Amino acid sequence: MQIINTVSALRLALKHQAKIAFVPTMGNLHAGHIHLVTLAKQQAECVVVSIFVNPLQFGAHEDLANYPRTLEADCEKLKAAGASIVFTPTVAEMYPDFDGVNLNQSMTITPPAIADELCGASRPGHFSGVATVVLKLFNMVFLNGAQQCFAVFGQKDFQQLFVIKQLVRQFNLPIQIIAGETMREESGLALSSRNGYLTAEQRLQASQLNTVLRNIVTKLKANHTNFDALELEATAILNAQGWIVDYISIRSALTLSRANSSDSHLVVLAAAKLGNTRLIDNIEFLR
Ligand code: PAJ
Repeated sequence: MQIINTVSALRLALKHQAKIAFVPTMGNLHAGHIHLVTLAKQQAECVVVSIFVNPLQFGAHEDLANYPRTLEADCEKLKAAGASIVFTPTVAEMYPDFDGVNLNQSMTITPPAIADELCGASRPGHFSGVATVVLKLFNMVFLNGAQQCFAVFGQKDFQQLFVIKQLVRQFNLPIQIIAGETMREESGLALSSRNGYLTAEQRLQASQLNTVLRNIVTKLKANHTNFDALELEATAILNAQGWIVDYISIRSALTLSRANSSDSHLVVLAAAKLGNTRLIDNIEFLR
């Protein structure tokens, strides 16, 4: 496994690869990330994993400075999982006009309006930052003549996956997007690098987020049609348990717009804070 930190070295290393599968990450890797690497390995012998904590997708008061950075342990896990190349660029390498303070990335992707809802409502600019860095990474990994291009993303970040699929479609990128299912602890808690911020007590409580989502799914499958009432009830339950709910929302899995009673392919999504830690989860299902 090669560890590469410049775009030119990456392009050179990938020059003769006819098939590449790519997994973008921000590091601090857990079994959810490794699951994506395993899926990538099923598509191509050459698997590239990027580790880059992207400043462009963090808001001014978010956890950019504290985001866990564990490069050595990450590389060990990636080697064991069969990754071919780990790409770990610096901020200056990713953002050529970075002056030490400002990124000066003046050209950015404007995602579809749906990116202003759900997580986008409380994280303005987040999905623009994600789409922009993902397009830059795609250009670095794939613009080298590879004939078959795959990129793997987790369903855990359902709205992100949705935005990336639109990016690929609307910019006519010859890249097949593969979705990996959400890896969870036995309690149901979705694995996340941000789980590391939780205290022992919060950790025990954290599975409540998945529990309320599963209860909504059960009720929807039993033909409940008052979506607003289900969302409000779940919000009240979590708030009463000490969470601060950002949103709980029942949506069409195909468009991400608010679901109506004729939709059969649904996703129920949630974001909520336990103390200072913001957790997200979702369940996609047919009814
Ligand atoms: P990061 O949060 O590191 O996640 C990298 C990939 O791992 C994403 O596709 C995410 O959906 C997936 N993932 C996270 N937790 C998962 C879990 N429990 N099960 C399965 N997959 C999981 O998402 C990002 O980084 C960034 O926004 C990025 C796309 C790299 C752009 O900067």
